[in-house]
Amino acid sequence: MQFQSISIEGLSHRFLSRTRPPTTALTDVTCTFPAGKVTAIVGPSGCGKSTLLLIMRGLMKASQGEIRFLYGDGAGRVTAGAPPRMSTVWQSFNLLPWRTVADNVSFGLELQGMAKAERLDKAMEAIRLVELSGFENHYPGQLSGGMKQRVGLARGMVMAPDVLFLDEPFGALDAQTRLYLQEQLSTLVEKSAKTVVLITHSIEEAIFLADHVIVMTARPGRIAASLEVDLPRPRGVDIQHDKRFGELFSEIYGLLRDEVRKSMLN
Ligand SMILES: Nc1ncnc2c1ncn2[C@@H]1O[C@H](COP(=O)(O)OP(=O)(O)OP(=O)(O)O)[C@@H](O)[C@H]1O
Ligand SMILES: [Mg+2]
Repeated sequence: MQFQSISIEGLSHRFLSRTRPPTTALTDVTCTFPAGKVTAIVGPSGCGKSTLLLIMRGLMKASQGEIRFLYGDGAGRVTAGAPPRMSTVWQSFNLLPWRTVADNVSFGLELQGMAKAERLDKAMEAIRLVELSGFENHYPGQLSGGMKQRVGLARGMVMAPDVLFLDEPFGALDAQTRLYLQEQLSTLVEKSAKTVVLITHSIEEAIFLADHVIVMTARPGRIAASLEVDLPRPRGVDIQHDKRFGELFSEIYGLLRDEVRKSMLN
């Protein structure tokens, strides 16, 4: 059976509180994340993107709706099955302060029971990919915000998952490092045909990296639109000067503008 997509149907979520009125974070979200493709999610702050991610990762139960992992049998039949191997780079890094960079990056492999030499090898490769070689033995407290974020990124990639979830993976980076790592990620996904779900505030980043862009409304988050990024691959950063890039940018920004204003009045 071949993993085909993550399918979300009619998903709504309400956070209940004893002391405050409930917060409706998501309403009736229906969308698909196709296997082997990069899908970006953009939407105003607080519209429920990270909540959606927590629910997809099975760390929170939605108040309503369904998530299914769909598999094809090659003969046109599709059935729902167990989640594929997934890993997540969280918005807040979530590094373990008492472990070195190398031990943070290899933590997931250690939990899988991989032998020490092998997991350190893999960790070093991931650390090299995010340009942190030389910092393997530093502790998170000795790193800058951008460096911590890169450790988080390495920790997600080292797992070689079927599906990689990235929640604002470049948010804490300076503009040049961000551009550089976007390029690295672009090459990586083009080579490995991974399924990636990328949450980002940057419309440019979404267009540069993704095959599809899902635009969400202000809270309570709904899907405002789903656009295909019909730009050729491989893509270099120069693609930003492409006419089609500009058209997609205007279209997405047009959709987001009003939503961002609404979210500020929320
Ligand atoms: N544990 C929680 N309890 C109560 N409300 C919550 C909780 N987590 C999130 N919320 C609320 O749900 C809404 C969506 O939050 P979420 O973190 O999913 O937004 P987001 O789209 O990821 O925002 P950002 O772009 O700023 O990261 C917000 O209004 C937030 O206050
Ligand atoms: Mg978030």
